[in-house]
Amino acid sequence: MQIAIDGPAGAGKSTVAKIVADRLGIPYLDTGSMYRAIAYQVLKSGISAENEEETVKIASAANISLDHLNNRIYCDGQDVTNEIRSAEVTSAVSIISAYPGVRKRLVELQREEAAKGNVVMDGRDIGTVVLPQAPVKIFLTASLAERAKRRWHELQKAGKAAIYETIYCDIEKRDANDRSREYSPLKVAEDAFVLDTTAMTVQEAADCIVDIIRRQG
Ligand code: C5P
Repeated sequence: MQIAIDGPAGAGKSTVAKIVADRLGIPYLDTGSMYRAIAYQVLKSGISAENEEETVKIASAANISLDHLNNRIYCDGQDVTNEIRSAEVTSAVSIISAYPGVRKRLVELQREEAAKGNVVMDGRDIGTVVLPQAPVKIFLTASLAERAKRRWHELQKAGKAAIYETIYCDIEKRDANDRSREYSPLKVAEDAFVLDTTAMTVQEAADCIVDIIRRQG
């Protein structure tokens, strides 16, 4: 069983996908974390995210491994699970994810993971590029204002300083980069079910997806 969940930034994909994977008893793979791990390595090496050639070299050499059980991600042996969520990585990631050389390498890894068995995979191009044959494709979205509000609440809860307007603009910019890039842009797969969660709770969204999966299967 392969479940593809795509959508814009902050739509709640990771949270919802994790719940769906737990309910089905299958692994969950957050492909955004892989792009973030490369962005982190690039910044750590002191290279600018604008330097495509060096970034692709880093992506090609990087040894990324995923611990599905504990939801951890390792890059060259280092646990980078927390580091990849920094503001610096978040602003660099949509620059480096536009490079075809980076995408080629990560799509290969994602397909290798999918070949191991059942998976719920979330990202931007899972239904369109990574697993176009996936029997269930969901495009999870919500209004930009709602997505920024959710992110703001998340940061508040974590005791981190957050300005709503800044979050709104950052998400808007990242979406624009992801939608307008030449290779594998964020778009709705023709056979995807579009789920707008603006007025839904996380549990309601997960219920709805599990329902779609059961009806398909
Ligand atoms: O899902 P998340 O917001 O953590 O993803 C971070 C970034 O990684 C996205 O903004 C996008 O630029 C990139 N990404 C991608 N393709 C994917 C997953 C993420 O380009 N399949």
